[in-house]
Amino acid sequence: MNLKPFCCPLVRIQRATLTDRKKKYRIQFKNQEFDASEGEVLRNVLLKNKLSPHNGAATYLNCKGLGSCGTCALEITGDVNPKTKVEKLRLNFPPHKPENRLRLACQIKVNSNLKLVKHAGFWGSRIK
Ligand code: FES
Repeated sequence: MNLKPFCCPLVRIQRATLTDRKKKYRIQFKNQEFDASEGEVLRNVLLKNKLSPHNGAATYLNCKGLGSCGTCALEITGDVNPKTKVEKLRLNFPPHKPENRLRLACQIKVNSNLKLVKHAGFWGSRIK
């Protein structure tokens, strides 16, 4: 016997409403602006909006958000979560330098309006 879990339309509506209640923030990147929900991973937000936090070949050659390649590094203006352990480790490893104050988009959860800048180079670490 094949039993499907029952989910009434009211429950579906309540779930959708709860999702919509998340705060929205404005993201500015590459002359574009779009909204992101509170808690969304910044890298995912950019990809969802058909933008990439990666340069050139790094668009394909990256760790897909594990925090190990460092190619999604961005300069970020706005309030963001503290660096994760993996992010600290990667940003202290060349070609990144801790003094560059870049952040990894895959390790950022959106919790404020953000302005983003992608710098040149495979890792986006060439700051002029
Ligand atoms: S995608 Fe590799 S560190 Fe973010």
